[in-house]
Amino acid sequence: MVLKLTWKRILSAATIAAALGIAIAWSGVINIGASTGHWAITDWFLHWSMRNTVRTYAAFTVDRKTAAVSDDNAQLVSAAGHYAAQCAVCHGAPGEQPSPVIQAATPSPPDLAKTAGSWNDRQLFWIVKHGIKFTPMPAWPAQDRDDEVRQMASFVAQLPAMSAEQYRRLAYGERGRVVAGQVTRLEEALPDCDRCHAEDGRDQPDIPVLAGQKPAYLAAALRAFAAGERSSAVMEAAAARIDPGLIPALAKHYAAQTRLPKPGASGDRAGDADRAGSTGSIGTSGSAGNAASADRATGADGTGDGIPSAAEVVEKGLPEVNLPACSSCHGPGKRPGYPMLDGQKAEYMAARLRHWRGDPAVVDARKPNAPMPMIARRIPEHLIEPLARHFASRRPER
Ligand code: HEC
Ligand code: HEC
Ligand code: HEC
Repeated sequence: MVLKLTWKRILSAATIAAALGIAIAWSGVINIGASTGHWAITDWFLHWSMRNTVRTYAAFTVDRKTAAVSDDNAQLVSAAGHYAAQCAVCHGAPGEQPSPVIQAATPSPPDLAKTAGSWNDRQLFWIVKHGIKFTPMPAWPAQDRDDEVRQMASFVAQLPAMSAEQYRRLAYGERGRVVAGQVTRLEEALPDCDRCHAEDGRDQPDIPVLAGQKPAYLAAALRAFAAGERSSAVMEAAAARIDPGLIPALAKHYAAQTRLPKPGASGDRAGDADRAGSTGSIGTSGSAGNAASADRATGADGTGDGIPSAAEVVEKGLPEVNLPACSSCHGPGKRPGYPMLDGQKAEYMAARLRHWRGDPAVVDARKPNAPMPMIARRIPEHLIEPLARHFASRRPER
């Protein structure tokens, strides 16, 4: 007998199948206990579809430039430090076991030193940014920080070739260590911060100098990270574990330190010495390598081609685009909650200015009136780097 397919029959078959599915789910016979794991076929099917999803989404939503994994170990300290505190518990690390408790999850977190090689750069980027639904794998808490995601993906890509010794050096430095649980004592907190902030940020362009910063600003920054108001997965995780009562002591500790002479080219330092001798006038001495040459290129003394220099913008702003003088807020002795920029790292400052420029939620009546997103948008793009380098090359006055 041949059953004729009619719309009516198809519809009733579908209804019966759906009702059967609901009845099975209702009966409770599907065991959702993690202890039993998946059947081999379920496991295969779930991972097959997961790999397909990652492949498709990575190909269509992650552009090559955003995900360009670098193998420059020098920039991976903050990713490695974050990994040690937040990812290693599940995935383990070179020379470190994962937690047996989390390994008992279904699905269990894989050893990334073995599996990272099976993904390309864009796929790693996508997984680290978005996480994996229905598994313990979390999304990146700061979705607007592609720079952080990229660093983490670069770090994961290097795990297969990383020795335990290399990992320890990257993630902990000389005397850093991860502190678990709520941190209530300064002596416990400092080794945790040292993983990234030792020696003015371990020569890392993305880790800011804290030494000599205004204490009120440091405390405000820590509170903003802990509350998720300032976006950085790395610092949100570090700050959230600090007992709020400890924040003033931490701020005081770093504020009392003296900024180290800038690392790197000795030419930098010679230039700084020049500058110190030039009665504190800015932007006039030929120092700090490309910093000053950029200033010069745009006419540091204002005589160039009419394009205002970084030094002029700092002192006078750009009235034609309503850009106030940076020095009106950032000069030494100005308001305690406004950070000192002199001697801060240029790459870090430029990245923050760019982040503010790209912030879509600049005008938000619910947020307190923050000046920098508005100001950063008014800085002409070609002045971002020169301004950052200008401040970086100055000696902090206290
Ligand atoms: C609570 C545990 C947990 C934490 C924390 C965690 N992961 Fe995962 N992760 C998992 C699990 C489980 C999977 C496997 C998901 C699956 O089977 O589809 C996974 C998968 C991955 C994968 C894909 C690997 C593969 O071959 O399938 C990457 C890459 C990854 N995690 C990176 C990270 C990074 C980086 C962090 C820290 C920011 C992190 N994970 C934090 C549990 C975790
Ligand atoms: C895993 C690396 C890491 C650890 C651990 C870490 N930091 Fe940070 N910290 C960073 C990075 C990276 C930034 C820059 C964040 C950004 O891009 O906004 C930062 C920024 C900061 C800032 C803001 C500085 C500014 O100029 O705005 C403060 C304050 C700070 N950290 C304090 C601490 C303290 C205190 C601890 C220890 C409790 C700590 N950090 C632990 C990496 C780390
Ligand atoms: C109206 C006052 C004001 C003016 C003018 C101003 N700033 Fe700011 N700036 C701030 C405040 C407040 C912060 C702290 C913002 C925060 O962390 O949320 C800040 C932070 C910054 C930071 C980040 C510092 C750090 O350690 O993370 C940079 C870089 C910066 N400003 C650059 C500039 C430049 C360049 C100019 C001039 C074009 C300028 N600012 C003008 C108030 C000002």
